[in-house]
Amino acid sequence: ANRFRTCDMTLLQTLTQRFEAALAAAGAAGAQPLVQPAGKPEFGDYQVNGVMAAAKQLKMNPRELAQKVVEHAQVADLVAKMDIAGPGFINLHLAPEFLARHVETALHDTRLGVPAQAKRKVMVEYSSPNVAKEMHVGHLRSTIIGDALARVQAFLGHEVIRANHVGDWGTQFGMLTAYLLEVRAGETDEAAIALNDLEAFYRQAKKHFDEDAAFANRAREYVVKLQSGDAEVLALWRQFVDISLSHCEAVYRKLNVQLSRGDVRGESTYNDDLPVVVDDLRTKGLLTEDQGAQVVFLDEFKNKEGDPLACIIQKSDGGYLYATTDLSAVRYRHGTLGLDRVMYVVDARQGLHFQQIFSLARKAGYAPESMVLEHVAFGTMMGEDGKPFKTRSGDTVKLIELLDEAEERAFQLVTDKNPALDETTRRQIATKVGIGSVKYADLSKHRTSDYVFNWKTMLAFEGNTAPYLQYAYTRARSIFDKGVALDAQAAVNLVEPAERILALQLAQFADAVYTVAKDAVPHLMCLYLYQLATQFMRFYEACPVLKSEGTVQQSRLKLCDLTARTLQVGLDMLGIEVMETM
Ligand code: ARG
Repeated sequence: ANRFRTCDMTLLQTLTQRFEAALAAAGAAGAQPLVQPAGKPEFGDYQVNGVMAAAKQLKMNPRELAQKVVEHAQVADLVAKMDIAGPGFINLHLAPEFLARHVETALHDTRLGVPAQAKRKVMVEYSSPNVAKEMHVGHLRSTIIGDALARVQAFLGHEVIRANHVGDWGTQFGMLTAYLLEVRAGETDEAAIALNDLEAFYRQAKKHFDEDAAFANRAREYVVKLQSGDAEVLALWRQFVDISLSHCEAVYRKLNVQLSRGDVRGESTYNDDLPVVVDDLRTKGLLTEDQGAQVVFLDEFKNKEGDPLACIIQKSDGGYLYATTDLSAVRYRHGTLGLDRVMYVVDARQGLHFQQIFSLARKAGYAPESMVLEHVAFGTMMGEDGKPFKTRSGDTVKLIELLDEAEERAFQLVTDKNPALDETTRRQIATKVGIGSVKYADLSKHRTSDYVFNWKTMLAFEGNTAPYLQYAYTRARSIFDKGVALDAQAAVNLVEPAERILALQLAQFADAVYTVAKDAVPHLMCLYLYQLATQFMRFYEACPVLKSEGTVQQSRLKLCDLTARTLQVGLDMLGIEVMETM
């Protein structure tokens, strides 16, 4: 039997469970042990912080209760030493044998010692650009944060549904389809050429619209035709959306983002359901007419005057709104998909919108309390000037161009570092380093804060960057090129402090993944991996691997192997690739 149980519980869960039991045995049943990683190395590895609160409840002396907890704790397999500190903290020093066993267990586990969670149906809705134009830098954050969160959920064993809720409906599409027909009437390849640059296509269509009254009228007619399901206009619309989506797919491929055509469920797909939603809200007595529009008043949201805020569901001209589509989408996600959790990875500026949608969806019975609805909000990517990232002339930057530049800059860097490598190899490395850097720079910031985009810091080989982690990976891997072989039977034995600290960091991987999944915070995965790489580099300096021999070498090789695999798996959860040389 595996008495270490590293694969059905995380380390923190194991310690928490043991100290819950110890508190109960000491007379404080039901008290929370509040186990946490220690704040300082002199406090050991973990601290039990819940004794004081429990003692207060029981009107006991906290140090006496701590003493009893220590006596009752059944942790001989995990903990080498416990100290009572201050008013009643318990400092835990984990046993090196336990950490060593963890390394061995994790090496034999495809999930590297991370226990699977009870399977749930989780949707991550992300990217979701408006397809009237090309993706610009404003779409970067949703796309990469969402992709990382989806990967983490999948890693934990959940059924993950990726949803790309693209904006593919609305009045602009009348103009765009009318213009598409116009350019198609010309030379055969003209439409294809024009659509190569969607941004320019949009500008030209808009110019026509503003300058040519006949065209503007035709565009308006097309909106009506589109909404009434006219076959010809629908076909044009579909062609346009199709091309626009293939532009998105080129971005996703370059970004190593796992979104495909099958994940697209655009706003248009809810179109037929919108009148049904309105009728349903009316039947449920939630709708009110306000200046000709159909609105829902939500008492918990007040405007500046302190009156209940109106959420418009249908305009006075009969048109529907962004909110109407989102309500229909919630209904579908519960009624048809039966999801347990929906994560909306959308700009923080849409916060009020989502609060209203969630509240209304609950009231209308479209989302039972058991379906968790979360707005995974994020801040804005800023330029060096502290304003939202733009070109010098103030235009939005196409995402694909930003990514091309990242690859080019990384190529220069790789060429400077390693001029002897052949060009194909340097290009391959540059793709992983360049794209990885852009993604990591973003994911490593707390998602709700704004951050300043800076090429220099993101491409640095030192600090909390993708190149630093990718380099640490190549270092850990390269040891195995030097003619040493792993003996699967050999034991891990932690003697040097650097070995022990590295093993402790490795044993904390599962808790890092759990927190990232629960709170939707990819930056904590970055922080974890950065600490791991740093501990590994220290170990590498302090503990020779190739110059050691026999059982010592085998033990160190195992630490290298698990470090490399953890870096690889952790970076993969962020959608960042590793390479064997760089
Ligand atoms: N298309 C929207 C935009 O570009 C984002 C959609 C977000 N998702 C949603 N369910 N409303 O702003």
